[in-house]
Amino acid sequence: MNEAVGFGKVILFGEHFVVYGLPAIAAAINDTTIATVEKADVFQLIDNRPETPGYKKEKAGQQEESTKKILEFMKIDTKNNPIKITLDGNLLAASGVGASAASCTAIARALSGFFKLNLSDDKINEVAYEGEKGYHGTPSGIDNTCSTFGGLIWYRKNLEGGPNTMEKIKPKQPIGIVMGNTGITSDTKKAVAEVAERKKNNPDRFNKIFSEYEQIAVDARKALESFDLKKVGDLMNKNQLLLQEIGVSSEELENLIRLAMSNGAYGAKLTGTGKGGYMVALTPSKEIQDRVAIAIENEGFKSLKTSIV
Ligand code: MEV
Repeated sequence: MNEAVGFGKVILFGEHFVVYGLPAIAAAINDTTIATVEKADVFQLIDNRPETPGYKKEKAGQQEESTKKILEFMKIDTKNNPIKITLDGNLLAASGVGASAASCTAIARALSGFFKLNLSDDKINEVAYEGEKGYHGTPSGIDNTCSTFGGLIWYRKNLEGGPNTMEKIKPKQPIGIVMGNTGITSDTKKAVAEVAERKKNNPDRFNKIFSEYEQIAVDARKALESFDLKKVGDLMNKNQLLLQEIGVSSEELENLIRLAMSNGAYGAKLTGTGKGGYMVALTPSKEIQDRVAIAIENEGFKSLKTSIV
């Protein structure tokens, strides 16, 4: 039997833009998915992860496709080597927290351990990326990179197919955040395709939005490196306005963002696919973090308090 983990993730800057080769900033969160691989009579995948109601059912087809891709990529023949894969851990299976990437990474690591393949982190990341294709079609790779390597990263997808850029950013101190769950499951493949369609129909507007976003990412990296959290928060708010413009926000997300801001957050935006899923709020002190989390819970939504290191 072999057990392994994959981190959940939060995108602080650049979801959707990252698909087009623009830089993004994201981090692993403490919540993880655990995958266990053991011998069995027939191939089985048991999913015991806690979930946003309906998530697993909605993603069942994509999960099957993803697991198939992982096994094929790793050249594991489950007919001759039947195994049982069990998913567990405290990361909620939900949109916006990197649930698919965390499970792909955990499965890749557990398979590598079980079959004594001794894969490096770079290889695990490659396998997890293949698995992500089952969920996203053409993922940018940011989620599996966070999930595999952990920490806070600056990420740029190489659109020519060469190696992607991944640089670690080291904040001076852990940065407190609150994530608020709309409870709505979103479809990344669909949301990414809709943005592509809007971009095709409005090239000039999108070019302007893209260059505005790129400046936000560059400034955000500097602000994180100099630990100017007020500035980081302002830039998150600016990023959110652009996410609204490209059409991936929603009323529920805007509602959670307003709640976070009116309870002292320095900045708040949707995180991940959008259209539902999670929002992230920058809450530098414990007091603000608690206040924002309580306000979200009082409105009947689930919150997650964590920090970026
Ligand atoms: C999903 O977590 C992030 C997106 O930018 C898609 C991707 O990067 O592949 C929406």
